[in-house]
Amino acid sequence: MTMMQLSEKQTTMAAKGSEGGRRAVSLWLWLVAALVFAMVVVGGATRLTESGLSITEWQPLLGAIPPLNEADWMAAFEKYKLIPQYHALNQGMSLEDFKFIYYWEWSHRLLGRAIGIVFALPFLYFWWTGKLKRGTGMKFLGILALGALQGFIGWYMVSSGLSERIEVSQYRLALHLTAAFMILGLLVWAALEEWPGEARVTGEVATTLIKRLAVIIVAAVLFQVVLGAFVAGLRAGYIYNTWPSMNGQFVPSDYWMKPAYLSFFESHAATQFNHRMMAYLVAILAFVQIWLTSRTPVDDRIRITAQWLGAAIVAQIALGVFTLLTHVRLDLGLLHQGGGAIVFMLAVVHLHAVYRAGVVPRDFYASRGRASA
Ligand code: HEM
Repeated sequence: MTMMQLSEKQTTMAAKGSEGGRRAVSLWLWLVAALVFAMVVVGGATRLTESGLSITEWQPLLGAIPPLNEADWMAAFEKYKLIPQYHALNQGMSLEDFKFIYYWEWSHRLLGRAIGIVFALPFLYFWWTGKLKRGTGMKFLGILALGALQGFIGWYMVSSGLSERIEVSQYRLALHLTAAFMILGLLVWAALEEWPGEARVTGEVATTLIKRLAVIIVAAVLFQVVLGAFVAGLRAGYIYNTWPSMNGQFVPSDYWMKPAYLSFFESHAATQFNHRMMAYLVAILAFVQIWLTSRTPVDDRIRITAQWLGAAIVAQIALGVFTLLTHVRLDLGLLHQGGGAIVFMLAVVHLHAVYRAGVVPRDFYASRGRASA
């Protein structure tokens, strides 16, 4: 075997090795994304079961150990009895009922710690063994820092409900949910970027209009999620439980409050109306994208991901309507929360297809030259 053949063999092996390594990195990122999705749903269940304020302190490490004996449970229960929510919602509740809400909040926090470990340890391993592409190490460090910040935001949100209020601030809930969705979006994008699939180079790239619309759709869905958090944070899903009108009105008569700008953040009627209207706008944008990608010669992945996204948005709107009509029945509220995360992930998957599918990779011909030599 000549030197030339040896180095080519090594290059192919390295490429294969890196391909194997990249697949492992991508699968790890998909695992973490799946755990963050589960975290969004468990977070929704914690909120919908009014469990979020049951643990009135934050111990990032020791908090992983739940009360282990009667005395510990009574101590945790006594601390909960000191906050306004206990007196307003749960006066006289039994220790067993307290354990039920405690375990929801505890498992939400424990899952948060587990996600931190499932991200950090493989990250260190991949970085140490040189399996990361140039520049991704810093990107993953950024995601890790966002994850840690999310822990703080979670406590910042809980602490807003421990003194004057009987529920957490809708502003801080929106911040917590938005941060969760951004972490999820970054993980999905990174997992797609790492996937070493053979580039099916069709050259059928997206037009500028399709690219711009794909970005607008991701931003619009994220904005809709923020509006949803204000509906959830204000418990605004327990009023105007009619559809398509709001108790016979298109715009609810109590939309505006004084000063007017506060309506968008503190008016139950306004936040629900805005969430409804934004849902319809998101659907229109998605169907325009389906129409554009169906009549433009673009790569199949662009067209198919647009259709998946459109279908998911229709399902999410239906879930939202039934959540409202049922006065936020627990299972529907949870499905709607999870559905919101799936719509956002599909919007990111579509954006990635729009920017990557069909594109001729920079070293395409160089690698082709090498392979055919
Ligand atoms: C693109 C469509 C939609 C998306 C992406 C979306 C997303 C969301 C998200 C993420 C939440 C949860 C926020 C949280 O738990 O903090 C939420 C809450 C809510 N959404 Fe939607 N939504 C959509 C459409 C709708 C529609 C069309 C309706 C009703 C007509 C609706 C009704 C509700 C209600 C009532 C809540 C509060 C539920 C609760 O208290 O848990 N949504 N939405």
